[in-house]
Amino acid sequence: MKVQDQFSEKELQPLNSIEQWEDDVLQRYPEGVEPSKAKEEYRNYDNPQRDTVREFYRLNHKYQTYDFVQEKKKEFLQFNRKEMPVWSAMEFLNTLVDDSDPDIDLDQLQHLLQTAEAIRADGHPDWFVLTGFIHDMGKVLCLFGEAQWAVVGDTFPVGCQFSDKIVYPEFFANNPDINDERYNTKYGVYSPNCGLKNVHMSWGHDEYLYHITKDYLPEPALYMIRYHSFYAQHREGAYEHLMDDHDREMFEWVKKFNPYDLYSKSPKPPVVSELKSYYEDLIAKYLPDTIRL
Ligand SMILES: [Fe+2]
Ligand SMILES: [Fe+2]
Repeated sequence: MKVQDQFSEKELQPLNSIEQWEDDVLQRYPEGVEPSKAKEEYRNYDNPQRDTVREFYRLNHKYQTYDFVQEKKKEFLQFNRKEMPVWSAMEFLNTLVDDSDPDIDLDQLQHLLQTAEAIRADGHPDWFVLTGFIHDMGKVLCLFGEAQWAVVGDTFPVGCQFSDKIVYPEFFANNPDINDERYNTKYGVYSPNCGLKNVHMSWGHDEYLYHITKDYLPEPALYMIRYHSFYAQHREGAYEHLMDDHDREMFEWVKKFNPYDLYSKSPKPPVVSELKSYYEDLIAKYLPDTIRL
């Protein structure tokens, strides 16, 4: 039985759209607001959207176990689903339509172009721009029928104690790993400062895209892709004890990337046809003619 066959439709898709998660992250980390103040406001903030997001995290924290991650890697890192040019993969991603409010929300391609264009406007290297453009491509997992909580959401290490700095930590009470003595200590299956290359992260679009691109992009780009949803570290510093010096150096890039991801959303949608040839050239410079999903 495939893992997701165990879940009801409601458990697979607790959110109205996957953008709801990112909208919620933006409320948690609003631009220019002091972290402690933002946190307090986030906790007090109450509306029906929030209940949806809470349910999303309840499921995420319950089901993202060490074994679940190993199973998903086995399932998806064979890349035996589709093979296509990167631009086509982006268009494929864009078939993931947001039915919550089509008039206001930008589609996936527009979010990615805005992120990339903001990076380009600040004069960063072209591989950084390209990273901004493709960083959410792993969300195609949704189109393969994956549960929303196994595609988006904050990521965190599995196989060791869950930090209380992760959003809604109380929901980890339902995760069976907290009763497993292999996984419930500070270091669990890892050793002090072993480096994130040895650490299994919860499964989602970040880890998936990392494996698709790992042979082609400069290392800072790969860190941005792999850890952009790891808020517990890049915003909260909760996993210093697993990081090595190289991770710390590379996380400067992850931190540099995050504001472009969160704060580049402007209501004026980018015009895809005007930008397409620039991004096609960038893709051709760094990535192979086709990628396997
Ligand atoms: Fe993302
Ligand atoms: Fe994003």
